[in-house]
Amino acid sequence: MTVIATSSSLGLAAKLSRLLSRELLVAEEKVFPDGEKYLRIPKRLEGDVLLVHSLHQPQDERFVQLLLAVDAAKGAGASRVIVVVPYFAYARQDKRFLEGEPVSVGALLKAVEAAGADALAVVDIHKPSSLDEWLRIPHFNVLPVGELAGYFRGKLRDPVVLAPDKGALHRAQLAAQVLGAEYDYLEKSRDRVTGEVKIAPKSVDVDGRDVLFIDDIISTGGTLVAAAKEVLALGAKRVYAACTHALLVSGALDKLYAAGVEEVVATDTVPSPVSRVSVAEPIAEVVRKLLR
Ligand code: R5P
Repeated sequence: MTVIATSSSLGLAAKLSRLLSRELLVAEEKVFPDGEKYLRIPKRLEGDVLLVHSLHQPQDERFVQLLLAVDAAKGAGASRVIVVVPYFAYARQDKRFLEGEPVSVGALLKAVEAAGADALAVVDIHKPSSLDEWLRIPHFNVLPVGELAGYFRGKLRDPVVLAPDKGALHRAQLAAQVLGAEYDYLEKSRDRVTGEVKIAPKSVDVDGRDVLFIDDIISTGGTLVAAAKEVLALGAKRVYAACTHALLVSGALDKLYAAGVEEVVATDTVPSPVSRVSVAEPIAEVVRKLLR
């Protein structure tokens, strides 16, 4: 098996090739004068290939590159193209919230399969059941919560792991297991008399304790800025933030630090200044199972 890297995930692909003891092949890329993308696999392929390509910004261009790379790998002789998309963009539009909208994640997943992918592995996709819903090829969702929580082992005093909302509670629960900590989620409630809206942990007391927030994505940072302010107002001692995909748009990191967050840590699905935890090992684990 050969590991094929594009410029979107070169570092992660290199780690995977080392972990799996397989050759790393870097795709040639260029842009035509009119803006169209070009990609070439510079060698004849044999057997299975692992194509690693993440869909961080510019996500539309990277998506076209992904389709080109799958087609190129098949054309170059690969018998199976196992596609690893560490960050699968457009996954938050996972249903038609309003009439007339697309199910964006479905449109993209179907296109990857149609391009010739034989299996797909993603990391912490917004709604894992989207994969079952839209794909017929084998698919895997890697959840790197153990790796993220492991980064904080021994660093926190009397920790509470919090999810910013109920939907993200499973991540907090898994991280708390690793850290031997309590976990909870933030709940919005409205005082029936005054109408005042309060955001606070559902049942755990954060007073005097370290809080670790864990989420799938930090984009603008708005969600975790608001969450950090709330728990600091409730007496939390120190606040940390961990996420899988650090999109970090609109000065998100500065906003988080300005809101009182001590440290922000993310994985390397999206290269960023806070990508201190690698998803290479859990992805390699999935690939080993696939090859067995
Ligand atoms: C929302 O559904 C996601 O899980 C994240 O909480 C959200 O995407 C974070 O976005 P932002 O950083 O812009 O608040």
